[in-house]
Amino acid sequence: MKGQEKSEKILNIATKRGFFFPTAEIYGAKAGFWTYGHLGTLMKQKWENLWRCYFLGLSDDYWEIEGSSILPEKVFQSSGHLTHFHDPLVECKKCHQRFRADDLIEDELNVKTYGLDAEALDKLIRDNNLACLNCKAKDFDQVKWFNMMFQMQLGATKTEPVYLSPETAQNPYLSFKREFMALREQLPFGLAMIGKAFRNEISPRQGFFRLREFWQAELQIFFDPATINQCDEWRNVEKYKLLLSFSEKGKNGAVKEVSCEEANKKYQLSKLYVYHLAKIQQFYLEKLQIPKAKFRFRELSSDERAFYNKIHYDVELDCETLGGFKEVGGLHLRGSYDLEGHQKGSGEKLEILVDGKKILPHVLELSFGIDRNIWALLDIFFRAEKERDLLSLPAVVAPIQVAVFPLVNKDGLPEKAKEVYDLVHEHFYTLYDQKGSIGKMYRRVDEIGTPYMITLDYDSLKDNDVTVRDRDSMKQVRVKIKDLVSYLQKLF
Ligand code: GAP
Repeated sequence: MKGQEKSEKILNIATKRGFFFPTAEIYGAKAGFWTYGHLGTLMKQKWENLWRCYFLGLSDDYWEIEGSSILPEKVFQSSGHLTHFHDPLVECKKCHQRFRADDLIEDELNVKTYGLDAEALDKLIRDNNLACLNCKAKDFDQVKWFNMMFQMQLGATKTEPVYLSPETAQNPYLSFKREFMALREQLPFGLAMIGKAFRNEISPRQGFFRLREFWQAELQIFFDPATINQCDEWRNVEKYKLLLSFSEKGKNGAVKEVSCEEANKKYQLSKLYVYHLAKIQQFYLEKLQIPKAKFRFRELSSDERAFYNKIHYDVELDCETLGGFKEVGGLHLRGSYDLEGHQKGSGEKLEILVDGKKILPHVLELSFGIDRNIWALLDIFFRAEKERDLLSLPAVVAPIQVAVFPLVNKDGLPEKAKEVYDLVHEHFYTLYDQKGSIGKMYRRVDEIGTPYMITLDYDSLKDNDVTVRDRDSMKQVRVKIKDLVSYLQKLF
C-alpha cells in the first residue's frame, strides 16, 4: 500500500472511530487544530502515563509540574523566542497565499535549506522560477521572517502583551529555583511537564503531524556542568548499542550501531547525554515495541539546531505515510542558555550552592511531541490484511484492552455477556458490543487495536467458559469465567 493510501485509511479510521478529527469542523476547520475523540484521548493518556512512569522512574529526583500556558512577554524576551523563534515566510503577490519559504524550496527542488538567510532563500525562489502552489503565478514577494508565537492582550483596560507558550520547557526554567529549594537541593534533578504548546505555523501540513496547538512531554534535567561525564547507571548501558545517524558535511549518513561506550569515548558525547539516548531508545524499542529498523537518532548540524542547543539528536521514526523518517522528539543539550537568560531578564539570582560552590546549572532536555508519537504509532502498527484493517498496537497504548460480545443477540447470551463485561471492566478498559454479526464485531475492534476479544456462546451457558481471541494471530482459547481476569492479567 502506498503512503498516501495508507494515510487516508488511517485518517478515515481516526475520524470515523473517534481517535481524532478536525476541531470545529462544522464551521470549516482551521488547519493545525485537532480534537482527540474518546479513543484518541484514552490512547494519548496511556502514552503519557507510560512516558511519565518510564522517564520519571529514571531517578528518584525527577518530578513533574504543571505550569501556565500563557506567559508574560519578558519570559520570551529572555528565552530568545521573540528574536529567534521565526520561520521564513513568502507571499504570492497574485493570490496572497503564504508559504514557508524553506518548505516550498525543499519540496520543489529537493534541496536542504538549513542555515540560509532570507536573501539566499529569495535567490533560490527566483533563480528556479518557483510557482505559487495555489494559483501557479511565478511572482513572490520577498522572504520575511515570521515569529511563530501567538500573542494575546492581557487585561481589559490597560492591556499588556502576553504569549501562548510555544514549548512546555519555559515553565520548569521559571520554577527551577523554587523547586530546587523545595526538594533535596541536589543535582542532577529533573522537572517534567506534559502540556500544550502553541505555534502559529505558516503552513501546517501533513495532517496530524505539524499542528498549531499540540501536546508536548518534556523533561528538563538540571545538572552541574562539572559532572556531565558522570552517570551512576553507566554500567547498565555502556555496552548497549545506539542507532545513530551522524551529520557529516550537512548530510546525514546511514544508521550506525554504536555502543554507549564508543559514543562517549570516540564520539565525545558525555555520559549524561549518552545514558539518556540509551533510555530513550529503550523506551521506543522495548516499551513501545517499535521495530529496530524504524527507529533512529539523527544528529543535527549546527545550522539545523535550535538557537539554544549545543548538541541535538532528533528521535525519528520511519513513517510510511510521511515518506520516511520523521522527528517525534529530541535530546537537547541546552547548556546554561535558559537559566542565564532568565537570571539576566528577571534580575533574580538563579545560581545555587552545590558543595559550597556557587553554580548556574546546565540543562539537558528530553523533548517529545505527543501527537506526532500517536500518529507514528498508528502508522507503524496499521496493517491492511485481506479481510480486515488491523491496528496491531502494543497493549500498553491500545485505547480499549478487551471487548466482550455475545455470539448472538438472543437466548440469554447478551445477559451472560454483560455479566462477564461487568467482571472484566473492573480491571481493564473494556467495551461491550452486540451490534451485528460476530465477524463484524471482530472487524470493528481489530480496527481500533483491541488486543483481546471475549465471546460468549451457547456452551458458555452450560460450561461457564468463554472464548478469548488474540487480535494479531486470531487464535482462540477457551477459558473458565472464574479464571478469566487472572488469565487476561497474565496476557497483559
Ligand atoms: N522544548 C524544545 C522544543 O520545543 P522542538 O524540537 O521545537 O523543541 C519538540 O519541539 C517536539 O515537539 C518535536 O520533536 C515534535 O515532536 C513536537 N513538535 C514541534 N513542533 C510541532 C508542531 N508544529 N506540531 C506537532 N508537534 C510539534
